[in-house]
Amino acid sequence: MNLKNEISIVLNELSEYGNLEALITESIDSSKGDFCLPCFSLAKELKKSPLAIAEEIASKLKLEDTNVEKVETVAGYVNFFLNKTKIAKKVLNELDLNVKVQPNGKVVCIDYCSVNLAKYMHIGHLKNCFLGESLARLFENAGYKVVRINYIGDYGTPYGKILAGIELWGSEEDIEARGIDALQEYYVKFCAAEAEDESLAQHARDLFKLIEEKDEKVYPIYLKVIEVARKEAERLLDILGIKFDSWKGEASYAPKLEETVEFLQNKNLLSTSQGALVVDLQEYDMPPCLIRRSDGASLYATRDLAAAIDRYNDYKFDISLYLTAVEQKLHFAQFFKVLELAGVPFSAGLEHIAYGRFSLPTGKISSRLGKQAVLVDLIDYVLNKATDVIKDREFTIEKPEDVARKVAKSVLAFNALNVERHKDCVFDLDRAFSFEGETAPYMQYSYTRIMSVLRKANELNLGAVEADYSCLNIEQAFSLIKMCSELDSVISSALEKRDPSLLLKFTMEMSKTLNKFYTVCKVLDDNLAEVKAKVEMLTKVKDCLQKAFHLLCIEAIVEM
Ligand code: ARG
Repeated sequence: MNLKNEISIVLNELSEYGNLEALITESIDSSKGDFCLPCFSLAKELKKSPLAIAEEIASKLKLEDTNVEKVETVAGYVNFFLNKTKIAKKVLNELDLNVKVQPNGKVVCIDYCSVNLAKYMHIGHLKNCFLGESLARLFENAGYKVVRINYIGDYGTPYGKILAGIELWGSEEDIEARGIDALQEYYVKFCAAEAEDESLAQHARDLFKLIEEKDEKVYPIYLKVIEVARKEAERLLDILGIKFDSWKGEASYAPKLEETVEFLQNKNLLSTSQGALVVDLQEYDMPPCLIRRSDGASLYATRDLAAAIDRYNDYKFDISLYLTAVEQKLHFAQFFKVLELAGVPFSAGLEHIAYGRFSLPTGKISSRLGKQAVLVDLIDYVLNKATDVIKDREFTIEKPEDVARKVAKSVLAFNALNVERHKDCVFDLDRAFSFEGETAPYMQYSYTRIMSVLRKANELNLGAVEADYSCLNIEQAFSLIKMCSELDSVISSALEKRDPSLLLKFTMEMSKTLNKFYTVCKVLDDNLAEVKAKVEMLTKVKDCLQKAFHLLCIEAIVEM
């Protein structure tokens, strides 16, 4: 719902001035109206001063039966004041938060998380996972069919190293018992040993070759390694509330090397360079895209090319997103270009969604990898902290452990999405749990407050009462109503810019305004007609928060 329309309706009759609607902007200072029409750009053509034009337009406006209450002219502007009571009534009765803008079921594939299973998940994955999940929900909300793809890193020499490590120091039983910790330990230990002894590196490469050949002794151990690592990734993703439709990873596409080479050869795109096959991209100011190494191996780009083609065959996507840190920009630019040159029908739908660095100040939490923050440690820390933060509160509806879990997850999501996608940011763990300031608990608490008021209002039997919307004619209430009307357009821009932080900022503003509203207005007073209007407004605000929370992976808590 767009309140600007109310002004357009009033201006409708004045076609002699051209497209006035395009000139309307929102007023910055609400004491000067809600919207304004600057007349400066009309001066030249009309050969009159902006002041005179503003006067003239204002004198011609007919406001009867509209939602505009009055107009004023100031220094070349026509300022419009909405009738807040009528607008409140209109928004509260007509706003539908469930309209889908893209109801014809276009398909979007989202490649996110895409963790290298040989290593621990780290804090960067937190950013990636919540960004991906939030975008998935934004697309779903707009009516798209979403395919969530975890393109796992299950291929390459790191697996040769882990297997070599197991051979040297470990056993399958140990992997079974200690899971990812054992894998990571062998990996790190092997990397250190290999730096001292070059023959070890060759051994790891040999083992990886045996994995590729599905050697009957080596391959089952590799499969066990993948299973153990995947189980841990699934466990962590489950805590974050994220589920994938596909876990098809790089290893599935390595065998497609020759197919991919042939495909590119048929398009006349390949050339040889020092024994390797490449697509030359000089014309596009990029280094060549390597397709087959001189030793015959596939590359990251080759596997991505094969995966993109496979995804199109499987899902016929309209849009296909890839989320990674900005460091991989060139890789995506290269392989997207190769697909464009190959003339595939889907190249225009490919998008790299790059994001900035997300980090913890070092030493903030104790980590099993020393300096680097490992995701599992961060999650443990946040779960403990959330339990601590709510321990003195009383709960009658939800279980405290569920509330703690919801707070923890929301703190993680909030901080991953809080800053503009491209910007670097540091996770401020000290502030993250505060009930004041811009935090997840603050937003969640504002939601529980509405829920508590609505529960009490429920006992008042307001059913037959006719609402008196004039009590909403105060700044804080009107701001809330206006925000309700704007939510869908904010959601649309967050989707369009592929940046949930826009929605998060808006939701935070809404929570703050809500808390200001309570300080100036008692909701449950004696005038039931007014109570009814306020309750209708709070119900709408609650629906908006609930919708925004879902899209931002923040949990709505009913009591805290
Ligand atoms: N596994 C890669 C990494 O950790 C990210 C994969 C991103 N997706 C893709 N299709 N390349 O760097």
